Amino acid sequence: MKRGRGKAPEPVALQDYEDAARRKLPAATFDFLAGGAADEITIRWNRDAYERLRLRPRALVDVSTVDTRVTLFGLDLPHPILLAPLAYQKLFHRDGEIAAAKGAASSGALYVVSSSATTSVEEIARATTAPLWFQLYVQSDMGVNREIVARAAAAGCKALCVTVDTPAVGARNREQRSGFTLPPQLSLPMNPQTLKARRTKLSSSSVASSRRVSVTWKQIEEFLKMSSVPVLLKGILHPDDAEQAVSLGVHGIIVSNHGGRNLDTAMATIDALRDVAARVSRRIPVLVDGGIRRGTDVLKALALGASAVLIGRPYAYGLAVGGAEGVARVVDILRGELELAMALSGRPSISVMDPSLLA
Ligand code: FNR
Repeated sequence: MKRGRGKAPEPVALQDYEDAARRKLPAATFDFLAGGAADEITIRWNRDAYERLRLRPRALVDVSTVDTRVTLFGLDLPHPILLAPLAYQKLFHRDGEIAAAKGAASSGALYVVSSSATTSVEEIARATTAPLWFQLYVQSDMGVNREIVARAAAAGCKALCVTVDTPAVGARNREQRSGFTLPPQLSLPMNPQTLKARRTKLSSSSVASSRRVSVTWKQIEEFLKMSSVPVLLKGILHPDDAEQAVSLGVHGIIVSNHGGRNLDTAMATIDALRDVAARVSRRIPVLVDGGIRRGTDVLKALALGASAVLIGRPYAYGLAVGGAEGVARVVDILRGELELAMALSGRPSISVMDPSLLA
């Protein structure tokens, strides 16, 4: 933190936002946001794996201009940092998703709306100029899925991310120990369970506690048929799954372990990215999330074949601390660090990234 005389310290790195959010949020809410599954070993590995990778910069390259622009599914973006889908954003700030999506707009970030958002996709779309994608937790009732997919596309979401790593929610021990519960007044207008409950006139909690929903390749084929926008699978770690996705005609892959919140001791995402990107071999875009906290992390992901990255918790910390402005500042800091890392490593544009950047 930068300390001006008499002034509150100003966050200068993403870690500062986490520290400030820890002070500001109720302890159980912070634990819900920061925590993960079981012993949180995957959360640690996500970070450790980035820290272990060493950069080998090139010298004497003209880096007087650094260009962070990328194109994803025909969408031109000023930089490759996207905001991952995060549930329940009104827990972190009273304006929840609306503030986050406004922060995304002012920092040039694409915002992925969660199907467990506390604001409807239509309201979010009205409030922001940021490009939007929609994330879906699949319901067993294909009619409900179809309804949500159509609403998201009609609201202007430019891609559909089907989360495939959550056939069951992980054992969230930190959350359990701190007694976190969802406030009953929080509504989830895009949640498949809510919509299903509405259809079947069941209470959403009784639907939530019902049988697990397993997504299989069969449903993915159906999503590919029903969706008018590109379909990405979020939560792939195995190169064989990536291969199958490509052969089915899936449009993109997000290498993710759900931020270490589901299967503890699942491998670090940057390690998984190496093999997935090698197998996909640029046939479709591969993105990655989990543990990205520094511009050098983004650089490493790009070097290992990612077309773009997503951040989760860091922007929620920004949201908790400073609403839309906090979110924008988090993205601006990370983007600034990325530009600096590109200049210092002799890689002035995203297109010149390759694994030789890593020692
Ligand atoms: C998530 N994540 C998530 N993923 C998803 O597909 N749908 C969702 O609704 C949520 N909700 C959610 C809530 C909270 C509080 C967290 C921390 C995470 C996972 C998220 O999209 C992303 O994969 C990780 O957050 C990335 O890791 P980092 O950046 O948080 O380390």
